[in-house]
Amino acid sequence: EKEGFEHFTLKEIFEQPKAIRNTLFPRLDKNNDIILDGIKLTKEDIEVFDRVYIVACGTAYHAGLVGRFAIERFAGIPVSVEVASEFRYRDPFIDDKTLFIAVSQSGETLDTLAALREAKRKGARILSIVNVVGSSVTRESHDVLYTWAGPEIGVASTKAYTTQLIAFYLIALYMARLTGKMPENQYHQILDELKGIDKKVEAVLKKADVCKAMAMLQKDNTSVFFMGRGVDVETSFEGSLKYKEISYINSVAIAAGELKHGTIALIEEGTLVMALATQERLFDKMCSNMLEVKARGARVVAIAQEGRTEIEKYASEVFYIPRTMDELAPILSIIPLQLLAYYVSAARGNDVDKPRNLAKSVTVE
Ligand code: F6R
Repeated sequence: EKEGFEHFTLKEIFEQPKAIRNTLFPRLDKNNDIILDGIKLTKEDIEVFDRVYIVACGTAYHAGLVGRFAIERFAGIPVSVEVASEFRYRDPFIDDKTLFIAVSQSGETLDTLAALREAKRKGARILSIVNVVGSSVTRESHDVLYTWAGPEIGVASTKAYTTQLIAFYLIALYMARLTGKMPENQYHQILDELKGIDKKVEAVLKKADVCKAMAMLQKDNTSVFFMGRGVDVETSFEGSLKYKEISYINSVAIAAGELKHGTIALIEEGTLVMALATQERLFDKMCSNMLEVKARGARVVAIAQEGRTEIEKYASEVFYIPRTMDELAPILSIIPLQLLAYYVSAARGNDVDKPRNLAKSVTVE
């Protein structure tokens, strides 16, 4: 039941701290060792892999993009991420040195399942990150890491996404440690931060009213642009999808560095631009991009880490997330975007939990 929330989508957004705890803490012991129940990969197995493919659809695909970032940065293994409907029709390089990771909330998405079967036939090791216990994807995988998000009823994926991110961080750190790719102190530093991330998600949710007020200024917009740099690009894609599917606002997401290669032609007086600027390493570059669109009349709404008040020079509104490591920021930065898309959708009177033309589980091609 909705437990006092107006929609399941909102309830599920607010369930994220708990969903994150349920996915994370059972996999950690008191020494910060990661125990991945359902994954039997040994050091030797991991050292054999020369590539990783992450394959999924929609929001799960966006989680895969963050997964690529984490596996490459932490574990140093090359990763490709692809939408399942395309992967099936290429001739991807797959053999017994390939780790194939399928990501799916439902575990029933037909394209993801078909891609998995193809990879398995060619000899890949199949690991899946799935929410629904016992679903088709899990039954056909060698290894399964469940997200413990609980049932997701709203068609738009929210808590499944953030728990998929947790699953990827766990897998990446596990692989990095087992193969000696990461210094111990760094490993503990990241894990200690990850163990407190649920509290930071709670802090973001406490500011839901700020998002609601921002949403009231956006509800009559017909289009929105998202941009970011580094792993903020992935968050831009996911935020943009939320706006499309529940707010019905035409939305485009790009890497901010791509602006001047075309998209900037669309910026005019009053254009709404959501600027993701959570990556400290790339902060100054991101400010330049914000200036570029602001100079052309864009109304810039930024997401940044607390304390980065200089961003107010480039944005008309800023939502601050608690300070965290750049690497883990995607867990926090998506929350205001989910809330914004939700409040815009509700303000427009849309059927938030069941957006038009969409199904929760896509079992056809
Ligand atoms: C978006 C959304 C969809 C799903 C996609 C994959 O909010 O819900 O894009 O993420 O259809 O579904 P699963 O994860 O069940 O394979």
